[in-house]
Amino acid sequence: MSKVTIQQLQKMKAEKEKISMITAYDYPTARFVDKAGIEIILVGDSLAMTVMGLDSTVPVTMEEMIHHTKAVVRGVENSMVIGDLPFGSYNQSKEQAIANATRLMKEGGCDAVKLEGGVEMAEITKAIVNAGIPVMGHIGLTPQTISKLGGFKVQGKGAQEAEKLLKSALTLQEAGIFSIVLECVPEEVGRLITEKLSIPTIGIGGGRYCDGQVLVFHDTLGLFEKFLPKFVKRYRNLGEEIVKALEEYKQEVKEEKFPGPEHVFGGVTEEELKRLY
Ligand code: KIV
Repeated sequence: MSKVTIQQLQKMKAEKEKISMITAYDYPTARFVDKAGIEIILVGDSLAMTVMGLDSTVPVTMEEMIHHTKAVVRGVENSMVIGDLPFGSYNQSKEQAIANATRLMKEGGCDAVKLEGGVEMAEITKAIVNAGIPVMGHIGLTPQTISKLGGFKVQGKGAQEAEKLLKSALTLQEAGIFSIVLECVPEEVGRLITEKLSIPTIGIGGGRYCDGQVLVFHDTLGLFEKFLPKFVKRYRNLGEEIVKALEEYKQEVKEEKFPGPEHVFGGVTEEELKRLY
């Protein structure tokens, strides 16, 4: 396998081969995801909640995103790595957006960036794309502006709302994005947007007809306990396994079963020992 490209994703859409994408925030996780052959790794700003323990994605900074992106990139051979632009890092001006997107690529080493927002982000998106940076869009439920949306709920339910989402998707496509995340929208809306766009759509709670699917690593593998959205499938409960393993370790320390003779160092002769005592 070789590095996944935008052209390959486009071909996958054309040939109706589904695209897989998942988040990763550090080197070992990136190794696992890359080994599994998943096409896209997103260094999502969801790391604010999953690895930093914050209540939302809003406080995460450019420095933190660059730090995690660097670690992920070191672990990857084939997957495409997308760095998430954090809240407030791209909405003030085209200049600010280009500067931060450039930093994420240059310092973080990712292959592309993702940003949230619809029609209102089209001009800024176009400016970043014109600066030579591939951009993935993200519409529907946009966690960075959750207070504006009034909480975590399905977006685009009525015809008017759905039309607005479609318009955003088409405008962003026109602005040059190579793919778009559809988060928490009715399946019919996910299908409509997927059929109307020529670029791949990636759903997270976007239904079965999107060109690909994305999930948050920690949700998928039972490593995040605070809440589990309806659209998540939990493939394993590694959190439970980790606690069991750690309890076993603790027990063995208490019972002096660990370390065993195979874990210790020798090498001091009887003679030397006598001198020490
Ligand atoms: O930050 C993130 O993990 C995301 C996904 C939910 C798409 O944006």
